[in-house]
Amino acid sequence: MRVLVSGGAGYIGSHTVVALVAAGHEVVVVDSFANSSPVVVGRLEALIGRELPVHAFDLTDKDKTEQLFASDRFDAVVHFAGLKAVGESVEQPLEYYENNLESTFSLLRAMRRHGCTLLVFSSSATVYGDAEPPYREDQALLSSSNPYGRTKVMIEQILRDVAAIDDTLQVAILRYFNPVGAHPSGTIGEDPQGTPNNLLPYVAQVAVGRRDRVAVFGGDYDTADGTCERDYIHVEDLAAGHVAALAHLRRALPAESSVDGKGARVHTWNLGTGRSTSVLAVIRAFAAASGRPVPFEIVGRRAGDMPRSWADASLAERELGWRATKTIDEMCADAWRWQAANPFGYGDA
Ligand SMILES: NC(=O)c1ccc[n+]([C@@H]2O[C@H](COP(=O)([O-])OP(=O)(O)OC[C@H]3O[C@@H](n4cnc5c(N)ncnc54)[C@H](O)[C@@H]3O)[C@@H](O)[C@H]2O)c1
Repeated sequence: MRVLVSGGAGYIGSHTVVALVAAGHEVVVVDSFANSSPVVVGRLEALIGRELPVHAFDLTDKDKTEQLFASDRFDAVVHFAGLKAVGESVEQPLEYYENNLESTFSLLRAMRRHGCTLLVFSSSATVYGDAEPPYREDQALLSSSNPYGRTKVMIEQILRDVAAIDDTLQVAILRYFNPVGAHPSGTIGEDPQGTPNNLLPYVAQVAVGRRDRVAVFGGDYDTADGTCERDYIHVEDLAAGHVAALAHLRRALPAESSVDGKGARVHTWNLGTGRSTSVLAVIRAFAAASGRPVPFEIVGRRAGDMPRSWADASLAERELGWRATKTIDEMCADAWRWQAANPFGYGDA
C-alpha cells in the first residue's frame, strides 16, 4: 500500500516508517517539525535504504493537505501528528484542541474527497481516565483529566461519527500504553525538547550525565515498592502493531470483529504488554543496561498520577495476531544505545 504517515518524523512515527517499509509498503511522510528534527529524515533513509518523500507543512492547513492528496494517491493514512505533552496542554488548551482536532479534520476531509479509506489513529491509554486497570477496549468510561487526553477522546468520537455515515471508511484506533526504547541501530530514538515529561528519557538523560538525578513522584502508593507502575512497551513492538492493524483494515473484516458494536467499521485496540513495571524497577533495569549509576530521589506525588496502569492486550492478540514481545531490559538496552550515541538527541547531528 501507499501509506501517508502524518507525524512520521516524530518518535513513534519514525519507528513505524521503518516497520511499514520493511513490511513492503511505500511510505510518504508529512510533518511540520513542530516537535521533531529534520535530521531524522537522513537517519530514516539510511535505515530503509531508499529516499523518503517528506512534505514539511502543518496539517491544520486544509489547503496544503488538500493539495497533497490531489497530487498523490494514498491507500491509507497512519495519523501520528499531534501535540502530546499533558502539562503543556493544561497551560495551552486552545493550541492543543486546535492542533490535534484541526489536523484530523483536514486529513479526514482530504481522505474522503480523494477516496482514501483506511485510517490508523494514535490514541492513548489516557482515555481510560482514572478507571481501575487492566483496561479493556469495551470499557464504557471514556474520560481524561487533561486537555491532551480529551483531544484523544474527542477524536475517537469524531472518527466513529464519520465512519457511521461513510461506509467506505475503515478506522483503527490504537490506544498506546507507555512507548519506550529505540531502534536497535541507535540511530533513531526519542528526543524530547526541554525537560522530558516521560520517565525513560529522563532516566536516560541522568545516565548519560545531562541531569543529576531522577525525581520519583511518590513512594507511598499502594504498589509493590510504593512507586507508580506503568505498562511500558517497546516502540518497535508498537510499530509492528500499526503494520498489523493496517493489514487487518485492508482485509476489511466484517463488523462483528469490532468491539465498537454492530455495523461499525471502527476498531479499537490496546497496544500494551499487559504487564506493569514500577518506577524503581525501570531505574534498576536502566542502570544495569547502561552500566551507569542512576541516582534518584523520592519526592511528593504528582497531581493526576494513577498508581497503576496496564493494558488488557488480549483483543489485539486475538484479532490482529499481534503481541508485544520485548522485555523491559531490551527496552532499556535500546534506549541506552540511542542515548549514548546521541547524548543531545538529534541536536548532536
Ligand atoms: N509518546 C507517547 O508516550 C504517546 C502515548 C500515547 C499516545 N501518543 C500519541 O502518538 C502520537 C505520536 O507520538 P510521539 O511520541 O511520536 O510524538 P512526537 O511529538 O515525537 O511526534 C509527533 C509528530 O507530529 C508532528 N506534528 C504535530 N502537529 C502537527 C501538525 N499539525 N502538522 C504536521 N505535523 C505535526 C510533530 O512535529 C512530530 O514530529 C501522538 O498523537 C501522541 O499523542 C504518544
